[in-house]
Formats: sequence, C-alpha cells, structure tokens
Amino acid sequence: MGSGIAQACAMVGFTTVVREVNQDLLDKGLKEIEKNLGRLVEKGTITEAAKGEIRGRLKGTTGIEHLKDCDLIIEAIIENLPAKHELFRVLDEICAKQTIFASNTSSLTITEIATATKRPQRFVGLHFFNPVPVMKLVEVVKTIATDPAVYEEMVAFGAKLGKTPVRASDSTGFIVNRLLVPYLLDAIRALEEGVGSIEDIDNSMKLGCGHPMGPLTLLDFVGLDTTYYIANIMFDEFRERRFAPPPLLKRMVLAGWNGRKAGRGFYDYSDPQKPKAMKF
Ligand code: 3HC
Repeated sequence: MGSGIAQACAMVGFTTVVREVNQDLLDKGLKEIEKNLGRLVEKGTITEAAKGEIRGRLKGTTGIEHLKDCDLIIEAIIENLPAKHELFRVLDEICAKQTIFASNTSSLTITEIATATKRPQRFVGLHFFNPVPVMKLVEVVKTIATDPAVYEEMVAFGAKLGKTPVRASDSTGFIVNRLLVPYLLDAIRALEEGVGSIEDIDNSMKLGCGHPMGPLTLLDFVGLDTTYYIANIMFDEFRERRFAPPPLLKRMVLAGWNGRKAGRGFYDYSDPQKPKAMKF
C-alpha cells in the first residue's frame, strides 16, 4: 500500500520521501507508481509533463535518516507491533517535535503503536484502501490522546489527497473492517457449508448487491494472510464468533494460498486475465 499512498501524496503536490527497507522493494514500489502514472498519461488524465513533475516530487531512499525533515510520516510497514514500535522509536528520536506520525494499520490499536513515542498527542491513524490511487476513502483515526488540532489537520490532509475522510475512533478494525471482515469471513463459511460455489457466491454479491467484486475475489485481492491476521486480532479484541477465522481460511494460509499475490487463493491466477475458481 505504501506505493499507492506515496503516489496519492505526490499527485496532489506534496514532496514525498518514500523509504523502503531495501533497494529491491524500493524499485518495485517506484516501478508500480511509474506504471500507474503511465496508464494515466495513456488515458489522457494527466500530461507527460505532469507525470514528470509527480515523479520529481518522489524521493526514494532506504535510509531512515532521510525522513527526519518530514512534516508528516505515514507508516505502512508489516502488521507487526514490535516492528512498528521499533520504527516509531527511531523516528521519534530523529524527527522534529512537531512532526505528525500516522499509521496505515488496518487492525492494530493506534494508541498502542503510539506508546513507542513521546508524542501520542501527535499520533493518528490514516487507513487507506486498496488500490489506494483509486479508492476514495481514508479513515482518520483519533485516539483518546490525539490533539484535536492535529486531528483536524489530518482530516484536512485526507481531503487534500482527493479522498473522503471519515472520522473513526481507535476501535479495532475502525469502521470499514468492523463491517467488512465479518462479511468476508461469512462468505468463506457459506462456501464451507456448501451454500454455493465460489463463482455463485461471488456473482450473488456482484450482481445481486452491486458490489464491484464478490467477497471471495475481494479476499484474494486483499490477501488471505492479511485477512487471517486481521480476523485474529479482531477476535482477540471482541471475542465474538463473527470475527473468528473459519478453518478453511487458516488452512489456505498454511498452504500459502494467499490470494492473487501468491498466484492462488479461491481462484487460480496462472492466467491473471482469466482467474479460474479452485476446486477443493
Ligand atoms: N492501481 C491503480 N489504479 C488501478 C488499479 C491499481 N492497482 N487497479 C485498477 N485501477 C484503475 C484502472 O486503471 C481503472 O481506471 P479508469 O476507470 O480511470 O480507467 C479503474 O481503476 C477501474 O479498473 P478496471 O476497469 O481495471 O477494473 P474494475 O472496474 O473492476 O475496478 C477495482 C477495479 C477498482 C479494484 C474494483 O474492482 C473495486 O473497487 N474493487 C473493490 C476494492 C475494495 O473493496 N477495496 C478495499 C479492500 S479493503 C482494504 O483495502 C482495507 C484493508 O485494511 C483490508
């Protein structure tokens, strides 16, 4: 998601420093942005010159010290609390006191991530949606410690990105995943119980409810490992069955069938243009 967030920031005029852990990942992210911008030029949405300007605003680095002069840091690393704590501990030391910190976490508690810093009042959640350049929503998450002025600044920032910012409290899953995760897990349960086939479950929600993707296609798109991880955190927090990951999800993750990025999930992506439903 980092590359999508960086693209969205650079497109509206912010000088954006993208920091990755190694050169390979950095090149991959910048290549993805290059591809997306190229598509926008082909469609006539932006000019070649505008693309050059956007690219010029993006500075790639693997060195964390290059983030020290940023006004806002948006973290989008792996969903692992110790890793986020370590990152923010270092950022808290090198960045100016007024720098605002944000996490794109989808399931961890913002309040808990902020404990690694001495600036909980300048810490918010900015939760984006995949694919970031296309999806118009950003959840702006306020903890009990967030300074109201900082929060309003971040709501305004979300709007500057061309997104609709929605206000959410620091409750696990915020608004979207609170509603989306039980729905996705229920689609897997429906499949497990033989209510319908993969294609029929997906077509039902696409054609019957006007969703752009059916739930099993969306699971492959989001990543089964990611969904499994989020579901476990939500189940731990709320202890409600609707958040409990179904056995089939766990087994697919154990088998490495993590969805589109793994080439296999509920569909086989050997031919990415024509995914074929898996047979279980
Ligand atoms: N990056 C940038 N642009 C992309 C893109 C990507 N990865 N994928 C598609 N696009 C653009 C296309 O260029 C196209 O642009 P245009 O309309 O200007 O020509 C537009 O999006 C539509 O793309 P397509 O015509 O190829 O395909 P679709 O009409 O099927 O749209 C989709 C693709 C936007 C992904 C649509 O299927 C969709 O909205 N799916 C649901 C996505 C969703 O629910 N996301 C939220 C997931 S939950 C989450 O992220 C939270 C986390 O915490 C779990």
